Amino acid sequence: MADKFKPDLTYSDVTPKTLYMGRRNFLLGLAATGAAVTAYKRLPGLFAPRATGSVPVPLNGVVQSKYTTTGEKVTPENWVTSYNNYYEFGVEKDDPSKNAKNFVTSPWTVSIEGEVAKPQKLSMDDILKVAPLEERVYRHRCVEAWSIVVPWIGYSFSNIVKLAEPTPKAKYVAFETYYDRKQMPLGSEAGIQLPYREGLRLDEAMNPLTLLCVGMYGETLPNQDGAPVRIVVPWKYGFKSAKSLVKIRFVKSEPETTWDMFTGVNGTPEYGFYANVNPNVDHPRWSQAKERRLGEFLKRPTLMFNGYGDLVASLYAGMDLRKNF
Ligand code: MTE
Repeated sequence: MADKFKPDLTYSDVTPKTLYMGRRNFLLGLAATGAAVTAYKRLPGLFAPRATGSVPVPLNGVVQSKYTTTGEKVTPENWVTSYNNYYEFGVEKDDPSKNAKNFVTSPWTVSIEGEVAKPQKLSMDDILKVAPLEERVYRHRCVEAWSIVVPWIGYSFSNIVKLAEPTPKAKYVAFETYYDRKQMPLGSEAGIQLPYREGLRLDEAMNPLTLLCVGMYGETLPNQDGAPVRIVVPWKYGFKSAKSLVKIRFVKSEPETTWDMFTGVNGTPEYGFYANVNPNVDHPRWSQAKERRLGEFLKRPTLMFNGYGDLVASLYAGMDLRKNF
């Protein structure tokens, strides 16, 4: 069960999914721009509620963020809720939407630990009060060479960093996500080490683009997309974006991560800690030069740092991004 990531979609992988796109997503697909998404939120009665299984969290006063990617067509929501990586609920793309329906996401606690002046435990109510919620339309690029454009809801993770008051010893942030064998029986067959762990350097975590995310498409996060709270790091491959977050630990040295520890088909590590989207560095088993946007047929070139270089390239000044991949 080692070879979880698959390099790409074929058109036949893609086509059947369109068959179960509902009316709401048909409409969204026709006019899915950031503006259209904002417009549908003003017309809540027009669309049927989606079946997510997630506990609704009131997302009040969401404002459009300046960090929205302009001019990008938003991916129809059904793609984003039915084509997922969430190995705790199975390794096939349609497993999480099928198997996470009854995942219990309330009550929820996120604990802040480690090298901080203010260790604390936050409920979802606490989390929603930390900073105003913004809608940010981000490109999201999976290491498997597919991508999506999603209107996420959340705020910069830097707000959490400020709340925690890291000590001068804190150089990295380690994320740990929820793992319960009873609720996630397929996790033990996933071939990766769980609980799912990820991490960022402190300055990456402080970058305003790094999002603490509590919703998408105007609503609470569906379970399969990481309810009730996840990280989204748009300039890195999707695996850095840990779902269903329960622990944030500030640490002195680079933390171990699930994909760092994973060895691919040849028994060699295939995923680096940095995982910046980089079309010039191939995965050992496939190219990263192009990507297929879910719902589209033709591939498009992958952009360095997923197109966010003006905001993040300076974080890596002087680093060899071929070695630090
Ligand atoms: N978080 C947890 N807890 N478990 C996972 O398996 N998969 C990662 C990431 N976060 C994963 C996770 C991977 S590999 C990707 S590509 C993204 O979630 C997918 O996010 P999406 O399903 O919202 O597109």
